[in-house]
Amino acid sequence: MQILQDKKIVLGITGGIAAYKTPELVRRLKDHGADVRVVMTEGAKAFITPLTLQAVSGNHVSDSLLDSQAELAMGHIELAKWADLIIIAPATADIIARITAGMANDLLSTLCLATSAPIAIAPAMNQQMWHAKATQANISTLKQWGFHIWGPGAGEQACGDVGLGRMLDVNELVTLSSDFFADKYLQDQHWVITAGPTREAIDPVRYISNHSSGKMGYAIAHAALRAGAQVTLISGPVNIAAPAGCELIQVTSAEQMHQQALAYVSQATTFVACAAVADYRVANIADEKIKKDNEHMQISLIKNHDIVADVAKSAHKPFIVGFAAETQNVEHYARGKLMRKNLDLIAANDVAKAGQGFNSDDNALTLYSAIDKIEIPLANKQIVAKQLVSLINQHYVAKNTEK
Ligand code: C5P
Repeated sequence: MQILQDKKIVLGITGGIAAYKTPELVRRLKDHGADVRVVMTEGAKAFITPLTLQAVSGNHVSDSLLDSQAELAMGHIELAKWADLIIIAPATADIIARITAGMANDLLSTLCLATSAPIAIAPAMNQQMWHAKATQANISTLKQWGFHIWGPGAGEQACGDVGLGRMLDVNELVTLSSDFFADKYLQDQHWVITAGPTREAIDPVRYISNHSSGKMGYAIAHAALRAGAQVTLISGPVNIAAPAGCELIQVTSAEQMHQQALAYVSQATTFVACAAVADYRVANIADEKIKKDNEHMQISLIKNHDIVADVAKSAHKPFIVGFAAETQNVEHYARGKLMRKNLDLIAANDVAKAGQGFNSDDNALTLYSAIDKIEIPLANKQIVAKQLVSLINQHYVAKNTEK
């Protein structure tokens, strides 16, 4: 079943240039199974026509509080009760201010007062308007009242300014909508996840690292967030964006990651060590760039702390999941690490196989506990992460009900 199957979404469109993206948003929400009814403000109609939105949504577009014909078809109170979710995208500074003030001077603001449905706001405005004290105060009030604020994103704006204020992409809004309706089975859990590579400095310009892209750890963070967990992502340097809603702790070296992991462990219900941590660091990091004066050079290395093993030794031991990237004897090495590092589960992958593991978009895992062995077949890392998170939770619940 599609995640938005039979979900009733009211899309409120206000007068911002990003309104031109809303037909695509409606189409994508419908592709995922949602029934979408569009409400437009007067300002929105200056950017896009109701006829376009009617054509893509397959429903009458409401744009007036005082239209007797429209009220006959579906009155504003009926529409307010019909919605499972109201999304306002793009949301101008004006609609944000009017909602915060409790005004009911057009159909959309009236709907927001008249509904008991959750409301998500995707702000879109000039960066200066976004940073204005009034807008920020309104947004913080709406957050306190339980409104969901989706974005804004940063980047170049229609007016030429650069900064925060862009409406999130259609893709992101569709993902946030799906996440909104996802089963929140991790609601009471706090997951701490390490991800990405670490960098061990040699001198001010050089370092030792590995090919980890962080994609797997970030996908696990996203899947855990989507299932309702609080997520702290301790990440080495990567080129991908952290999922919206997680607490991102950026580190560079293994020692920094070790420090942060131990600082957060007491809050964690679950610790997932997905980072490809450098096993060794440079004994004496040069203060200045090393010159290539010698034919041979040697760098002396010292072993780094084993982060996940130290987490397992902490007084408050969370449920711990490690990873084992192997090129041979996968089961033998993975089970060895499971025991030696005192983990609850270990997810092993064969990085010698083409098209999976390090730096790839796909992965296949085998999950080992002391007694179990479960295969997660080759798929996109997002899909693998979703299955892994669900399996980790099953083992977590089983362990905690044993106690
Ligand atoms: O021993 P190996 O590096 O293969 O173990 C892999 C697992 O241990 C992964 O979960 C990895 O994140 C974790 N690890 C760690 N600290 C290290 C080395 C590995 O947490 N210094």
